[in-house]
Amino acid sequence: DLRLWPETGAKEDVRYALVWDPPSGELASYPNLEVIFSSGAGVEHILRDPELPPLPIVRLAEPNLTMRMSEHVMLHVLLHHRQILDYLEHQRSRRWRHLRQPGADEVRVGVMGLGVLGRDVVRKLMTLGFQVAGWSRTPKALPGVETYAGKGELDSFLARTDILVVLLPLTEETRGILDRALFARLAKDGALPGPVLINAGRGALQVETDILAALEAGDLWAASLDVFEPEPLSRSSPLWTHPRVVITPHIASISDERAVVEHVLRQIAAHEAGKPLDHLVDRERGY
Ligand code: NDP
Ligand code: OXD
Repeated sequence: DLRLWPETGAKEDVRYALVWDPPSGELASYPNLEVIFSSGAGVEHILRDPELPPLPIVRLAEPNLTMRMSEHVMLHVLLHHRQILDYLEHQRSRRWRHLRQPGADEVRVGVMGLGVLGRDVVRKLMTLGFQVAGWSRTPKALPGVETYAGKGELDSFLARTDILVVLLPLTEETRGILDRALFARLAKDGALPGPVLINAGRGALQVETDILAALEAGDLWAASLDVFEPEPLSRSSPLWTHPRVVITPHIASISDERAVVEHVLRQIAAHEAGKPLDHLVDRERGY
């Protein structure tokens, strides 16, 4: 029995809700709600509701979403690694010129966030031959990957990173983490002309004016940005026309609707059979 908000009928009938960014107070108005499902992997939209009922929140984590995110990250890592922004510029001026091209094994990629998405990205980047490291809140052991954890190891992680891939959730701890000071700590001795930022996590992780300043100062050589705060990105933002920036409109990974429905139905079946729910959000951690 499926009801599409706002035509939910009698609120007492509703036991499960699938939401992206519900209005504050809305979820609290369903007295028999048992589980909140997020239609996104990130849940900061849901957690900011001051009247959020104390129910389990299940975030979206399923293979289709993971596959699409890895496609996005491989595309942008390779785009910068193979210097395609420069070749496109050369094409516009009909210039036939070879740039020095390092091999993937000379390039160090660092992935911030080793969750469901980050771990798949790490695995696929290693298959392409890149030197891969990852950074997370708590220590991780991943075969063949240098791993770093917490603020104490962030500097060492950044100092060995040429291409920084960001797949962090937005929390109180991560808001604004991608700032001028962080960009300045990225490796300056890499095989590429300079450090690259690829952010597909959340827009509020990054300070846009700091990205522009870092591009200007050479602390960043290029950036691929899929997420912004607010969205859509303002038409007046200088990021739109910056020659070293690739903008996409929060499309890094949008799950197939059928895959989302299957994920939710699987979890409801488990819940009704008395089994535990997967991918539960920890409200204290914020993700
Ligand atoms: P997970 O919850 O599985 O993983 C989050 C990772 O981030 C974990 O490794 C976690 O560390 C790490 N992390 C969290 N806080 C910190 C911190 N303070 N310092 C260091 N590491 C931290 O999330 P997913 O991989 O499923 O998704 C990641 C994010 O990607 C989502 O929250 C969402 O914002 C974004 N996203 C964007 C999409 C797009 O289209 N642009 C699509 C889907 C997701 P630990 O392992 O120690 O817990
Ligand atoms: C997500 C997103 O969090 O689409 O899943 O950004």
